[in-house]
Amino acid sequence: MRAKLVAGNWKMSGSLASNQELLAALVPALAPLARASYAVCVPFPYLAQAQHALRGSNVALGAQDVCQFDGGAYTGGVSAAMLADFGCRYVIVGHSERRNVFGETDDVVALKFAQATQHRLTPILCVGETLAERESGVTEAVVARQLDAVVKRSGLPALAQCVIAYEPVWAIGTGKTATPQQAQEVHAHIRARVAASDRRLADELAILYGGSVKAANAAQLFAMPDVDGGLIGGASLAADQFIAICRAAQAARETVRA
Ligand code: 13P
Repeated sequence: MRAKLVAGNWKMSGSLASNQELLAALVPALAPLARASYAVCVPFPYLAQAQHALRGSNVALGAQDVCQFDGGAYTGGVSAAMLADFGCRYVIVGHSERRNVFGETDDVVALKFAQATQHRLTPILCVGETLAERESGVTEAVVARQLDAVVKRSGLPALAQCVIAYEPVWAIGTGKTATPQQAQEVHAHIRARVAASDRRLADELAILYGGSVKAANAAQLFAMPDVDGGLIGGASLAADQFIAICRAAQAARETVRA
């Protein structure tokens, strides 16, 4: 069985005051929703605040990035050990904004993934194609390349310690969600690619969808057999939206292994 996971990616949003309000709304609302898992990935400066606010709750803490190096003279870097120190369970690696705005290559993403798993964090590995790539028919090749870079460095069994997030770049922050069928198609491709080497690992692998998920479309997406939850950007900043998405995950049927 793969339980659903809903993770909020706050990106570069929030303040001490607004975070407090948001987390205070999420914690009691999500407490009774025991059939799925939940997380919020917050900006680095707010890790301590969120750690404190989430203590004893069923909402896990995550970060949005990690340095590819272990520690030392890397000005501005935040290491996996530091994230673990603040009680992080998850860390997003390879988000398309990191890849496209900050120039992270597949190799850098693979190093970050390795750092996360070495420190017992669960990387949420983001993969996904741009609009131009989709239109030129290379979606599957792009996603495969992004996945293979990680497998090459960390080995296939390392995927057992991660969550994949399929986030088509054209759907991020655009209000243009992939249809449930479009998401399902790519998720099934990712799972089949892993299954070609290890069927059991593929069956257990959680693959989230991200890109303009909202309360209004979450249930249809989560109903797809290979969509194991969502990575939520904008809608994770509004308590009512995020709670409704989490309720949709709680209500969705768990995927029974074939
Ligand atoms: P939006 O939900 O705002 O489209 O962002 C998706 C995303 O990038 C989550 O990581």
